Formats: sequence, structure tokens, C-alpha cells
Amino acid sequence: MLKAIEIYKKKTKKSAKLFSKSKKQHVNGVHHNIRFFEPYPFVTKAAKTKFLIDVDSNTYVDYWMGHWSLIFGHAPNIIKKHVKKQLSAGWMYGTVNEMTMLLSDTIQKAVPVAEKIRYVSTGTEATMFATRIARAVTKKKIIAKIDGGWHGYGSDLLKSVNWPFNESEDRGLINESSIVSLPYNDLEKSLSILKKVKNDLAGVIIEPLLGGGGCIPATKEYLKGLQEFIHKNNSLFLLDEIVTGFRFSFGCMYVSMNLDPDIVTLGKIVGGGFPIGVICGKQEFLNFANTTTQKKVERSYIGGGTFSANPITMVAGSTALSKLKKNGKNLYAKINKMGEETRKGLDKVFDGKVLTTGKGSMFLTHFLTDRINKVTNSTDAAKCNTRILHDYHFEMIARDGIFFLPGKLGAFSFAHSQSDVKNLLKASNRFVANLRNNSSR
Ligand SMILES: Cc1ncc(COP(=O)(O)O)c(C=O)c1O
Repeated sequence: MLKAIEIYKKKTKKSAKLFSKSKKQHVNGVHHNIRFFEPYPFVTKAAKTKFLIDVDSNTYVDYWMGHWSLIFGHAPNIIKKHVKKQLSAGWMYGTVNEMTMLLSDTIQKAVPVAEKIRYVSTGTEATMFATRIARAVTKKKIIAKIDGGWHGYGSDLLKSVNWPFNESEDRGLINESSIVSLPYNDLEKSLSILKKVKNDLAGVIIEPLLGGGGCIPATKEYLKGLQEFIHKNNSLFLLDEIVTGFRFSFGCMYVSMNLDPDIVTLGKIVGGGFPIGVICGKQEFLNFANTTTQKKVERSYIGGGTFSANPITMVAGSTALSKLKKNGKNLYAKINKMGEETRKGLDKVFDGKVLTTGKGSMFLTHFLTDRINKVTNSTDAAKCNTRILHDYHFEMIARDGIFFLPGKLGAFSFAHSQSDVKNLLKASNRFVANLRNNSSR
């Protein structure tokens, strides 16, 4: 049987050629480090519904879905129609537009903490500004984050992202000492770290489901325990719902968990597939960024930028959220069920040798080892066999035309259907059989 890498090279010849050009022109050939995988990533020509199509005309059922931003699938007609209409009315104003208010109307109905909102163009900016407001409000410096927590490439939060979480991620960073890092889902250890810095703790930023760090939901007790400590010590609770916002239901995870964050960051789905970051939160805190009322010595500048709140993103976001509000219940039920079946199905296919974590439509298969049989945080996830996980994803790209960004969690969109669950389990079954054959040789 041909090896996956031979199949891949055979079917992606045009991609190979184009990517070697890209490598000459661009850093590592890509524009987001995680988009690179060995031997070279295929080059995409088009995307429609659940499919990515590469320059060699291979089609892939996509589970990466634009960094999980495309809950409707690729290029859905509903968003295309409204964006097209907006294109003829102009796509970049750089002035106030009513579409921001329409999008905010919808967000504010679903996310009660969003008493005030500011739009930016990326999630990275949103988390950067959230931490900055926390420092301005509290007049303290330290921000706590989670081991393996990913909030974008901003200079502050680019710490303890990759295992073993105690080495600097980037030689260009300064002031790393004002970020401390906590073990996810371990309240006792987290509180003992926080207690040491409580007098200078501006805020804690956390995802309710660790996305890039392993697709691991936080326990309610953990989040509640952190929240209690944060508020008792006059710090801000910053909840990063850039992945989870509008992913599992119409709204945010914090509402269903009955939490009381001070600032919530959103992105991805909220932009309807166009670039967005959202900082929203309690008025008393967001008002620190109000440059007309706030004294210069106390205020916080929180951007946007040239393209913030551009009419195309606002229209796409509004259309997406309106549609989710109207038809979301059934659509969410459909993809959440597919996610649930997939997690159970994969654990069965791999016969107890994996643990598939996640929630609703999101899932990631962790290959357990002798050293690790549970996955509650990024340390556990990093101790699993990540090499096999990459091989598994790559095998499916090469042999089955199923695309996961190797090593990363997958997400169902509304464009997927029950047959995709079946095909994914079938491809996984074949991977297991190959593993068995290879190891018995
Ligand atoms: C939880 C979380 N926060 C922030 C970001 C950064 O968002 P962006 O890539 O839009 O800058 C990401 C991106 O994946 C994310 O997953």
C-alpha cells in the first residue's frame, strides 16, 4: 500500500510547485504559523459549502472551517447575498455606519454583559485591548492567563502557549514578568499562584473551552472559583469567547454557566466569516476607554484601526447572527448532535486508546499513552501522543480528502451532514487498521 505522503505528493503537484514559490516570497511560506504542515500545505483555489478545493482540483471535506469561524460553511448564499448588496454601496467608509448598530442590537440581546461594545478587526486586538482596560481600571499590572491558553499573537498574552509553558515564546517580548500562568481546571494550584500576585492582579483572561490548547471545556467549579477570587480582589474577569461565542447556541457559554465576567471578547463567527474582534463588557469598565469623558491620566486607548467596523464585516456579521437567532435552535441541535456522535464514535473506533474531548460541534482526538489517561488541561494534552494525532489527520487529508489542520480540533458547520460523521468514522477505522497492520509486521 502506498504511504500517505506518497499519495499526497502525487495528488498535489501544483500545490508543491506553488508553495515553493510562496516559501521564497513569504516567511515560512504562510501568513499564520499554524497553517504550515509537512511536507507542504496544499494551496487552496476555492471553497464552497463543506469543501475546500485545491489548485490540483482535489476536494476536501473541511473541519478547520476558516479557523472555526465559518459556522454556515464556506461562502453561504445568505451571507453572499447581503455582502454583494453592500459592495455596491461601498465596502470601506472609515466613518460611522448604521450597520454597527444593527450588529450590536443582536449581540446585546444575546450577551447581556455587552453594555458597551467596540469593534476591531482581529481577536488578537480584542484580547490585547481587554487586558489593557483591566490595567487601566484597576491600576494594577499583572494579567493571569492559562497554560496553553491562546489569545492571538499580541505581545502580552504570547506567554505559556506551548508545552512546557515555562520558556519564552519569542525573543522580541518585553515585560513577560507581568503575565502569570495558571494550570487549567486545577483550582487549588491556580489560586495558590494567584494569591502570590493578588495585590497587583489586574485581571485573569481565560477561555471557557480551551480551543487551541486542546479543545478542553473548563469545569463550572473552576470558572466560578476563579471568578470569586478575582472579584474579591478587585481584579477583572476577562472571558475570551472568541471561539465559543455563538458556537454552541445563540449567545455565549458564560450565560449558560451563569458566570459574571466583566469583559467578554468575541470574534470569528460574529463576523460572518469576515475579519472581526469584539471587546464588550460592563459599562463601568468600558467607559475607561471613552476619550470624551475620561481624564487622560486614567483612560485606556482601545483602538480600532483602519478597517474596524467596516461595512462588509458588519453586514456579514449581522446577517449571520440574525440567521442564527431565527433558525439557530435547529441548526445548533443538528451540529451539536453530530459532534456528540463523533466523540463517542471515535472513542469506540480507537477502542479506548484515545480520548475525544470537546463540546457541541467541536472535537479533538487525544492519543493516550501509558503516562496519560485523562485530558483536563494543556499539560495532559501535550503529554498525549501528538505525533500519531498529526499522522492521523495527515492520513485523512491524503487518503480520504478529509481536512483537519493537523493536530488541531475539528468543527462541524451547518454545511456538514450525518454522512460526514459516517465517513469520518470510516476513515478513522481504516487508520486504526493500518496502525495494527504496521505494528504486527
Ligand atoms: C480563544 C482565542 N482568542 C483569540 C484569538 C485570536 O484571534 P485572531 O486570530 O482573530 O487574532 C483566537 C484565534 O484563534 C482564539 O482562538
